[in-house]
Amino acid sequence: MSTENNFDHLLGIKGLSQSQIQTIFETADNFKSLLNSPVKKTPALRDTTIANLFFENSTRTRVSFELAEKRLGADVVNFSSSSSSVKKGETLIDTVNNILSMKVDMVVMRHPAPGACLFLAKHVNAQIVNAGDGTHEHPTQALLDAYSIREKFGEVAGKKVVIVGDILHSRVALSNIYCLQTLGAEVMVCGPVTLIPKNIEKLGIKVSHNLNQALQWCDVANMLRIQLERQDQRYFPSLKEYSKLYGLSQDRLDHLNKEICIMHPGPINRGVEITSDIADSNHSIILQQVENGVAIRMAVLFLLAQNNR
Ligand code: CP
Repeated sequence: MSTENNFDHLLGIKGLSQSQIQTIFETADNFKSLLNSPVKKTPALRDTTIANLFFENSTRTRVSFELAEKRLGADVVNFSSSSSSVKKGETLIDTVNNILSMKVDMVVMRHPAPGACLFLAKHVNAQIVNAGDGTHEHPTQALLDAYSIREKFGEVAGKKVVIVGDILHSRVALSNIYCLQTLGAEVMVCGPVTLIPKNIEKLGIKVSHNLNQALQWCDVANMLRIQLERQDQRYFPSLKEYSKLYGLSQDRLDHLNKEICIMHPGPINRGVEITSDIADSNHSIILQQVENGVAIRMAVLFLLAQNNR
């Protein structure tokens, strides 16, 4: 992304200014109003073709981007690595350049390798949107999370947000830390010592290993999934023990002398990091996060396309 409020690519939250994020939010406000109207669609991107390249599993992000693109009137092609020539040994650059030769303007990519989107942006002639690159960043998730906090409280500045769980393997955590700090929130991470990166406090955030104390401190708790698919060793004795120490339950909330807002980026492992009753309770804004994802992604794609005209 360039300076000022222009967008070249959206590769991460790191480097985005407060003003750029506010521009995304204000644009998303307009799209959210549109989505809540009977019309739901605008032809704003009718001349734009977007390829969604997913080299990793996804439900929310893939559907949300595709809906955002279609609501903007773009032409959309979907690619998943499991059924592509990647399986025959084709490189990422060859795959993408072959797709781009079919006159594609923008690429939305999820990839297991951290930095894959930056690499692509340097080697192909298209605007790139990062839909999650390994353990690095998931910028649109952080934007929709912060937008949902803004919607709930009126502003993000001054809010205390604890991100709980597998911080070590989480791209959502890193993007959230950058986004929330840029918007003036206070951030804490909470989890077992083995799942918190060493020296993470140097990012200017608090660290706790005690969930009860962290919940007492915060206005918002963002509960993360344990990313077993990224874990190459055992980081805690059992899921049962993890859940006992770091799972969010009604019993734990009953011991607080205040109400807090509960978030989760999904997918949820019910009964591990959060119990079903809390995930589905009035304190949870999990489905509002998903709803806001479409407006946020419409805003990002719209602003990118504006910069390309
Ligand atoms: N939050 C998120 O990225 O979910 P998916 O993996 O389903 O896209």
